[in-house]
Amino acid sequence: MKGIVFDMLRDMVEEQYGLDGWQAVLDKAGSDGLFISTDSYHDEELLALVAAGSEVTGIDPNDLVFAFGQFMVGEFYKRFPRYFDECDGLIDFLLSVDRVIHVEVRKLFPDAGVPEFRYSQPTPDQQSPDQLTMIYQSQRKLCRLAEGLIDGSARHFNQPYQLQHPLCMHRDDPQCHLIVTLLAG
Ligand code: HEM
Ligand SMILES: [Zn+2]
Repeated sequence: MKGIVFDMLRDMVEEQYGLDGWQAVLDKAGSDGLFISTDSYHDEELLALVAAGSEVTGIDPNDLVFAFGQFMVGEFYKRFPRYFDECDGLIDFLLSVDRVIHVEVRKLFPDAGVPEFRYSQPTPDQQSPDQLTMIYQSQRKLCRLAEGLIDGSARHFNQPYQLQHPLCMHRDDPQCHLIVTLLAG
Protein backbone atom coordinates (compact mmCIF):
# COMPACT_ATOMS: atom_id res chain seq x y z
CA MET A 1 0.00 0.00 0.00
CA LYS A 2 1.04 3.54 -0.70
CA GLY A 3 2.18 5.85 2.08
CA ILE A 4 -0.83 8.05 1.35
CA VAL A 5 -3.07 5.31 2.76
CA PHE A 6 -1.01 5.23 5.97
CA ASP A 7 -1.21 9.03 6.18
CA MET A 8 -4.99 8.79 6.01
CA LEU A 9 -5.07 6.15 8.74
CA ARG A 10 -2.95 8.41 10.93
CA ASP A 11 -5.29 11.34 10.28
CA MET A 12 -8.33 9.28 11.20
CA VAL A 13 -6.81 7.98 14.45
CA GLU A 14 -5.45 11.42 15.37
CA GLU A 15 -8.77 13.11 14.71
CA GLN A 16 -10.49 10.90 17.24
CA TYR A 17 -7.74 9.81 19.64
CA GLY A 18 -5.14 12.55 19.36
CA LEU A 19 -1.42 12.30 18.82
CA ASP A 20 -1.06 10.12 21.90
CA GLY A 21 -3.57 7.67 20.47
CA TRP A 22 -1.63 7.39 17.21
CA GLN A 23 1.64 6.99 19.11
CA ALA A 24 0.08 4.18 21.15
CA VAL A 25 -0.97 2.44 17.92
CA LEU A 26 2.53 2.81 16.45
CA ASP A 27 4.15 1.46 19.63
CA LYS A 28 1.87 -1.55 19.70
CA ALA A 29 2.46 -2.26 16.02
CA GLY A 30 6.23 -1.71 16.32
CA SER A 31 6.15 0.91 13.56
CA ASP A 32 8.25 4.07 13.38
CA GLY A 33 5.36 5.91 11.71
CA LEU A 34 7.55 7.37 8.97
CA PHE A 35 5.69 7.11 5.70
CA ILE A 36 6.34 8.94 2.46
CA SER A 37 3.06 9.26 0.61
CA THR A 38 4.32 8.12 -2.80
CA ASP A 39 6.42 5.20 -1.48
CA SER A 40 5.05 1.68 -1.13
CA TYR A 41 4.96 -0.22 2.13
CA HIS A 42 4.12 -3.79 2.95
CA ASP A 43 0.45 -4.59 3.41
CA GLU A 44 1.39 -6.44 6.61
CA GLU A 45 2.42 -3.12 8.10
CA LEU A 46 -1.02 -1.65 7.46
CA LEU A 47 -2.69 -4.77 8.85
CA ALA A 48 -0.47 -4.58 11.96
CA LEU A 49 -1.55 -0.95 12.44
CA VAL A 50 -5.22 -1.93 12.06
CA ALA A 51 -4.76 -4.73 14.62
CA ALA A 52 -2.99 -2.35 17.01
CA GLY A 53 -5.65 0.30 16.38
CA SER A 54 -8.29 -2.23 17.27
CA GLU A 55 -6.54 -3.02 20.59
CA VAL A 56 -6.11 0.65 21.48
CA THR A 57 -9.70 1.64 20.61
CA GLY A 58 -11.53 -1.57 21.45
CA ILE A 59 -13.18 -1.45 18.01
CA ASP A 60 -13.47 -4.72 16.09
CA PRO A 61 -10.84 -4.79 13.29
CA ASN A 62 -13.52 -5.31 10.61
CA ASP A 63 -15.45 -2.29 11.85
CA LEU A 64 -12.25 -0.28 11.93
CA VAL A 65 -11.49 -1.15 8.29
CA PHE A 66 -15.07 -0.15 7.35
CA ALA A 67 -14.75 3.17 9.24
CA PHE A 68 -11.43 3.73 7.50
CA GLY A 69 -13.10 3.28 4.11
CA GLN A 70 -15.75 5.86 5.07
CA PHE A 71 -13.07 8.26 6.23
CA MET A 72 -11.00 7.77 3.05
CA VAL A 73 -13.84 9.11 0.90
CA GLY A 74 -13.65 12.49 2.66
CA GLU A 75 -9.87 12.51 2.21
CA PHE A 76 -10.15 11.58 -1.47
CA TYR A 77 -12.72 14.31 -1.93
CA LYS A 78 -10.34 16.88 -0.41
CA ARG A 79 -7.54 15.80 -2.73
CA PHE A 80 -9.46 14.92 -5.92
CA PRO A 81 -12.85 16.71 -5.87
CA ARG A 82 -13.35 16.57 -9.63
CA TYR A 83 -13.71 12.77 -9.60
CA PHE A 84 -16.83 13.31 -7.52
CA ASP A 85 -18.09 16.55 -9.01
CA GLU A 86 -18.01 15.18 -12.57
CA CYS A 87 -20.30 12.30 -11.63
CA ASP A 88 -24.03 12.15 -11.75
CA GLY A 89 -24.66 10.44 -8.42
CA LEU A 90 -23.50 7.33 -6.58
CA ILE A 91 -23.86 4.68 -9.29
CA ASP A 92 -22.18 6.85 -11.90
CA PHE A 93 -19.35 7.46 -9.42
CA LEU A 94 -18.93 3.77 -8.57
CA LEU A 95 -18.79 2.96 -12.29
CA SER A 96 -16.02 5.52 -12.67
CA VAL A 97 -13.86 3.91 -9.96
CA ASP A 98 -12.61 1.16 -12.25
CA ARG A 99 -13.06 2.97 -15.57
CA VAL A 100 -11.44 6.30 -14.62
CA ILE A 101 -10.19 6.77 -11.06
CA HIS A 102 -8.12 3.66 -10.49
CA VAL A 103 -6.81 3.93 -14.07
CA GLU A 104 -5.48 7.41 -13.23
CA VAL A 105 -4.08 6.15 -9.92
CA ARG A 106 -2.16 3.42 -11.78
CA LYS A 107 -0.71 6.04 -14.14
CA LEU A 108 0.43 8.19 -11.22
CA PHE A 109 1.76 5.25 -9.20
CA PRO A 110 2.61 2.36 -11.51
CA ASP A 111 3.36 0.14 -8.51
CA ALA A 112 0.08 0.84 -6.73
CA GLY A 113 -1.97 -2.23 -5.92
CA VAL A 114 -5.38 -0.91 -6.95
CA PRO A 115 -7.91 -3.69 -7.39
CA GLU A 116 -9.91 -4.48 -10.51
CA PHE A 117 -13.66 -4.25 -10.38
CA ARG A 118 -16.08 -5.64 -12.90
CA TYR A 119 -19.63 -4.43 -13.05
CA SER A 120 -22.97 -5.95 -13.71
CA GLN A 121 -26.27 -4.14 -14.06
CA PRO A 122 -29.79 -5.54 -14.42
CA THR A 123 -30.46 -3.44 -17.57
CA PRO A 124 -27.12 -2.14 -18.83
CA ASP A 125 -28.56 0.55 -21.13
CA GLN A 126 -30.93 2.00 -18.52
CA GLN A 127 -30.60 5.79 -18.24
CA SER A 128 -30.56 6.16 -14.47
CA PRO A 129 -29.88 2.71 -13.11
CA ASP A 130 -30.87 2.07 -9.51
CA GLN A 131 -28.77 -1.04 -9.01
CA LEU A 132 -25.13 -1.94 -9.59
CA THR A 133 -23.12 -5.03 -8.75
CA MET A 134 -19.42 -4.44 -8.18
CA ILE A 135 -17.46 -7.65 -8.63
CA TYR A 136 -14.33 -7.37 -6.56
CA GLN A 137 -11.24 -9.54 -6.74
CA SER A 138 -7.95 -8.82 -5.03
CA GLN A 139 -5.31 -10.79 -3.18
CA ARG A 140 -5.89 -8.39 -0.33
CA LYS A 141 -9.52 -9.36 0.18
CA LEU A 142 -10.34 -5.87 1.39
CA CYS A 143 -14.08 -6.07 0.65
CA ARG A 144 -14.79 -4.54 4.05
CA LEU A 145 -12.77 -1.51 2.96
CA ALA A 146 -14.76 -1.41 -0.28
CA GLU A 147 -17.97 -1.48 1.78
CA GLY A 148 -16.76 1.51 3.79
CA LEU A 149 -15.75 3.33 0.61
CA ILE A 150 -19.20 2.67 -0.90
CA ASP A 151 -20.89 3.87 2.28
CA GLY A 152 -18.79 7.04 2.43
CA SER A 153 -19.54 7.70 -1.24
CA ALA A 154 -23.29 7.20 -0.70
CA ARG A 155 -23.16 9.75 2.12
CA HIS A 156 -21.21 12.11 -0.08
CA PHE A 157 -23.93 11.99 -2.74
CA ASN A 158 -26.61 11.89 -0.09
CA GLN A 159 -28.24 8.81 -1.63
CA PRO A 160 -29.70 6.16 0.67
CA TYR A 161 -28.89 2.64 -0.49
CA GLN A 162 -28.89 -0.96 0.53
CA LEU A 163 -25.87 -3.23 0.24
CA GLN A 164 -25.88 -6.98 -0.30
CA HIS A 165 -22.75 -9.09 -0.29
CA PRO A 166 -24.00 -12.55 -1.28
CA LEU A 167 -20.65 -13.87 -2.54
CA CYS A 168 -17.47 -13.23 -0.55
CA MET A 169 -13.83 -14.32 -0.85
CA HIS A 170 -13.85 -14.67 2.94
CA ARG A 171 -16.42 -17.42 2.49
CA ASP A 172 -14.29 -19.12 -0.19
CA ASP A 173 -16.10 -17.66 -3.18
CA PRO A 174 -13.72 -16.70 -6.03
CA GLN A 175 -14.89 -13.05 -5.93
CA CYS A 176 -16.98 -10.73 -3.81
CA HIS A 177 -20.24 -9.43 -5.20
CA LEU A 178 -21.20 -6.06 -3.76
CA ILE A 179 -24.75 -5.22 -4.84
CA VAL A 180 -25.69 -1.58 -4.36
CA THR A 181 -29.41 -0.78 -4.63
CA LEU A 182 -30.57 2.81 -4.39
CA LEU A 183 -33.56 3.39 -2.13
CA ALA A 184 -36.20 5.88 -3.06
CA GLY A 185 -36.28 8.80 -0.70
C1 HEM B 1 -11.67 9.40 -5.68
C2 HEM B 1 -11.84 8.20 -5.22
C3 HEM B 1 -10.77 7.12 -5.13
C4 HEM B 1 -9.41 7.21 -5.25
C5 HEM B 1 -8.57 8.45 -5.55
C6 HEM B 1 -8.86 5.87 -5.03
C7 HEM B 1 -7.52 5.54 -5.01
C8 HEM B 1 -6.98 4.41 -4.43
C9 HEM B 1 -5.61 4.24 -3.99
C10 HEM B 1 -4.50 5.29 -4.09
C11 HEM B 1 -5.50 3.00 -3.46
C12 HEM B 1 -4.27 2.37 -2.80
C13 HEM B 1 -3.39 1.60 -3.75
C14 HEM B 1 -2.11 1.21 -3.04
O1 HEM B 1 -1.84 1.72 -1.96
O2 HEM B 1 -1.34 0.38 -3.55
C15 HEM B 1 -6.82 2.38 -3.55
C16 HEM B 1 -7.11 1.12 -3.12
C17 HEM B 1 -8.37 0.57 -3.09
N1 HEM B 1 -9.52 1.14 -3.65
FE1 HEM B 1 -9.68 3.01 -4.43
N2 HEM B 1 -9.89 4.99 -4.80
C18 HEM B 1 -11.06 5.72 -4.84
C19 HEM B 1 -12.34 5.24 -4.64
C20 HEM B 1 -12.64 3.92 -4.38
C21 HEM B 1 -13.98 3.41 -4.19
C22 HEM B 1 -15.29 4.22 -4.18
C23 HEM B 1 -13.84 2.06 -3.98
C24 HEM B 1 -14.86 0.99 -3.72
C25 HEM B 1 -15.95 0.76 -4.08
C26 HEM B 1 -12.41 1.74 -4.01
C27 HEM B 1 -11.87 0.50 -3.77
C28 HEM B 1 -10.56 0.28 -3.41
C29 HEM B 1 -10.09 -0.91 -2.69
C30 HEM B 1 -10.96 -2.08 -2.24
C31 HEM B 1 -8.70 -0.72 -2.50
C32 HEM B 1 -7.72 -1.67 -1.77
C33 HEM B 1 -6.73 -2.38 -2.63
C34 HEM B 1 -7.12 -3.81 -2.98
O3 HEM B 1 -8.25 -4.24 -2.67
O4 HEM B 1 -6.31 -4.53 -3.57
N3 HEM B 1 -11.72 2.89 -4.29
N4 HEM B 1 -7.71 3.25 -4.17
ZN1 LIG C 1 -16.28 -10.06 0.46
